[in-house]
Amino acid sequence: MRVLGVSAHFHTAAAALIDNGRVVGAAAEERFTRVKHDPIFPERTIAWLLDEAGVRGADLDRVVFYEQPHVKFTRVLASTLSTFPRHHRSFGSAMKRWLGDRLWTTNKLSRILDVHPDRVGVVVHHRSHASQAFVGSGYDESAILTLDGVGEWDTTGLGHGRIRDGALELNVLETHRYPDSLGLFYAAFTTFLGFRANSEECSTMALATFGEPRYAPVVRQILKVGTDGSYRFDNSWFDFVSLGQAPFTKKLISALGPPRTPGMPLPFESFRMPGAEPVAPTEDHQRYADIAASAQLVLEEAILGLAKRAARLTGCSRLCLSGGVALNCVATARLLEETPFEHIWIPPDPGDGGAALGAVQHVLGEHGQLGAEARSIGPYLGRSYDPTPTLDMLTHMGPDSWSAYRQPGLPPPEAYTLSVERLSGDEAGLIARTVDDLLAGRIVGWFQGGFEFGPRALGNRSLLAHPARVETALKLSTRVKARAPFRPYAFSIAEAHALRAFPQWSDGIPAMARWMQVVVPVSAAVHDQVRATLHIDGTTRPQVVAASDNPRYHKLLTAFGQQTGLAALLNTSFNARGEPIVSSPDEALMVFARTDLDTLVLGDAILRKVYS
Ligand SMILES: [Fe+2]
Repeated sequence: MRVLGVSAHFHTAAAALIDNGRVVGAAAEERFTRVKHDPIFPERTIAWLLDEAGVRGADLDRVVFYEQPHVKFTRVLASTLSTFPRHHRSFGSAMKRWLGDRLWTTNKLSRILDVHPDRVGVVVHHRSHASQAFVGSGYDESAILTLDGVGEWDTTGLGHGRIRDGALELNVLETHRYPDSLGLFYAAFTTFLGFRANSEECSTMALATFGEPRYAPVVRQILKVGTDGSYRFDNSWFDFVSLGQAPFTKKLISALGPPRTPGMPLPFESFRMPGAEPVAPTEDHQRYADIAASAQLVLEEAILGLAKRAARLTGCSRLCLSGGVALNCVATARLLEETPFEHIWIPPDPGDGGAALGAVQHVLGEHGQLGAEARSIGPYLGRSYDPTPTLDMLTHMGPDSWSAYRQPGLPPPEAYTLSVERLSGDEAGLIARTVDDLLAGRIVGWFQGGFEFGPRALGNRSLLAHPARVETALKLSTRVKARAPFRPYAFSIAEAHALRAFPQWSDGIPAMARWMQVVVPVSAAVHDQVRATLHIDGTTRPQVVAASDNPRYHKLLTAFGQQTGLAALLNTSFNARGEPIVSSPDEALMVFARTDLDTLVLGDAILRKVYS
């Protein structure tokens, strides 16, 4: 059975294709349009998937959209009309979008793919999320929590899943409906704190570490968490129809003070040079951090309550999570410690992009066709490229030709020449040379294989650096990533060394540590060796790498460990500020040209800026 899944029109559009049990691929459209979190209909991703499988649209047995457009439309209509005429502009623009395009998504899929309308269907949004959460875990039975902003009407789902003989039994036991939404709650606070909703929630989470939750009593009036694990959201504090502009009411401002102006600098630093004096925060700066800490704490209380309720209702020892809220890896870390669940799984892309794959898994489950590949989902599902044309192009151009592309605001480029080393067939040499560069404090762009599905760079589209060298991490923040100093980095570590950094996992390394999904304390014994990757509270969000997960990346970590004693590298996503993670070799080369990235490893070749 050949099934294509599609998500679009809200947040990070994506598509996924499974062809007779083989996962052909899955990718977010942003990687092709180069617009971060692009919600546009994913035509380019679909074209790549069909090409990769060597089929035409008409050859597809089923095409599924990840939610029910007509049901979602009723929610949009009801919520925008409920405040009419106060938000008549929001109403007008919503109707234009929906009546002109979104309502007819299944017709569009049928038309552009040349698939008979009978073969185009929809899956309920939270069932797409639940399938995405559970099926790829490899578990036969599990409790399931789906936590997002909103689908059609549902915002939270608590369920139970079982797979028998390739067939999926999915029972949704309880739901919360709009506007009772944990995702919208956290997005609203993200906007209040001057960050972009549905995009920069990770900044709210990082800022929370610098604060005290002294506003928690106010926030608990907004999100009321019951002792039975239920929660209620009081929407008199927010105006969700305007979400993305100013969703908070006067009531909220009188309780918490004025919101932060977007772009206002924050003085907090997750790390600094030894001996450097911290900048003291103003009263307002500290208030923002305290509000972030309060919203984070109450979100954690709600998620913990739901998880404990799921354990009681299902009796399961395993839990699968999805929905954008599952990306809050400080909250999900507490599930490991404070709930009865012994095993917790979050797919590599738990958000709406990943729900395109979930919709495919749901259809296969209905037909009893869930095979081994669909049940064991890793992150390396994106397109791979041959870098040879890009390398050949370099014989015709070099630093002289690309200096015009350099990011504005960076200091003038040092005089450097470009060295290109092709090491096909010499993987040991490639790894040894890369380790030399990392030891020398150079920042390395590491581009290998297919790109990752989901928001994390996990060793195929990564920027790497020595994890102990604070000066290198600062250069990475200021001259490559343009990243706010309060946001910490993280590290990848080879499995064999993981217990030295995380002795608390002596009974087993949690699955969430495979794809950077859990924030945990790092043993003080290795702090000096990874000091550039730690948050201010001594935690990190690790990727524990097994050889079977990513063989070449594992070899690189291991070789670095042979030189330093700890097989760990600072790992952050390979992108410039505001852009999606790079997809193609040309895009990687462009970041190399525009920024102070020192070395670019493109497949089997090493490009270096050689400074005079
Ligand atoms: Fe969702």
